[in-house]
Amino acid sequence: MAVARQRIHLPPAAWRRALSTLVTGKMWEGDAIAQFEKAFADFIGAPEAVVVPSGRAGLCFTLEALELEKGADVICASFAYPVVPHLAHRLGHSVRFAEIEMDTLGMDPEALAATITDQTKVVIATHLYGVPCRIREIAEIAKAHGAILIEDCAHCFGASVGGTSAGSFGDFGYFSFETSKPVNTMGGGIVTVKDPELAQRMRKIARKQNPNGFKWLARRLLKTSFEATVTNPLIFNLGVYPALRLTSKKEEAAERFASGYQRDETTLQHRMGRYTNYQATLGLKQMASVAPMVERRIANAERLMDRLEGKVRFQRSNDPDVRSNYMLVTTLMPNMLEVSRRLLAVGVDSKHTYMRDCTGIGDIGGDFPNAIAAEQQVLHLPAYPELSLETIDGMAEKVAKVVAEF
Ligand SMILES: Cc1ncc(COP(=O)(O)O)c(C=O)c1O
Repeated sequence: MAVARQRIHLPPAAWRRALSTLVTGKMWEGDAIAQFEKAFADFIGAPEAVVVPSGRAGLCFTLEALELEKGADVICASFAYPVVPHLAHRLGHSVRFAEIEMDTLGMDPEALAATITDQTKVVIATHLYGVPCRIREIAEIAKAHGAILIEDCAHCFGASVGGTSAGSFGDFGYFSFETSKPVNTMGGGIVTVKDPELAQRMRKIARKQNPNGFKWLARRLLKTSFEATVTNPLIFNLGVYPALRLTSKKEEAAERFASGYQRDETTLQHRMGRYTNYQATLGLKQMASVAPMVERRIANAERLMDRLEGKVRFQRSNDPDVRSNYMLVTTLMPNMLEVSRRLLAVGVDSKHTYMRDCTGIGDIGGDFPNAIAAEQQVLHLPAYPELSLETIDGMAEKVAKVVAEF
């Protein structure tokens, strides 16, 4: 059996809860929102959390709540989710970049120290693919220069540094609840906030968004059901895998299917509106069960990394007290595209070109060789919790053989 690059599920009882919240009039507003915010803030160890319509909307609302002047100096990581610097730029801020390091693939604290000035208003640090960046050093540098620190936690629910959860180091931390993320409420997100006054301001901004209607709800349910179907191992093997094999021979199609199975949206389209009480009920339910899934994902990732030790270079943290959730197990492959094609041929579907070298945004120039290398080399291998250790071992053997061909 071929192994799909990801496994997506409908949140437990998604259709039933949609119906019951609809019937009881608690689809759009209700108590679950405040309960979910409290449960999430407690889990992370943050004073406050505010639900938002998406991770990217969380970033926009944060920048709005900070009431920055136009042209404020904002520093992002050179290799990240492009929509992040893109939105900061579109909101009228002056975006600059600090280079990443090749181990964590997160912002390099030394590069930040060389880039930041006392004029810098915001630093956005990303914990990519569930491996925390060197956030303690980054937080110290930001604080020394009086800059606000925002953690991009879209991937890192369940990851921690020195026993402290990612998302509680910065002034803000935004999480995404898209379908491929550790907590999946079919879209949406949450922002952890240190200052209760700023949290209130964020809440006001979030609550004044127009509610999304039934069309939106139907679209989210159908989209997630579709993703759950195509990543189901049986359907994947019967239909998707043969189609991927065919299309992988065509350059253009290979690019199209690079990240998820569809093109990544890099706009706010379908990502605004108001987070619903219905989604909060889905999130609350998962808070109780997500920890064992994170544990299994970590066990699979560590097994795969162990089996390929010395043969493949992996993204990892060198700090012994860092716990990564390995939302995506990430390798650095010099012949990434060819390796991914060969892996597909032997039954291992992989993912690439999810994050990008962002340094073209804002047109400021500069030299960012690590961002270029990461974009060219990052390849994600499947290690999601549903895979057995036997499957992981079989896959490790195949990967080792393919890598040895190059
Ligand atoms: C690193 C990172 N930041 C931010 C986001 C934006 O999250 P959302 O899709 O919920 O807007 C994503 C989405 O995949 C992401 O990967």
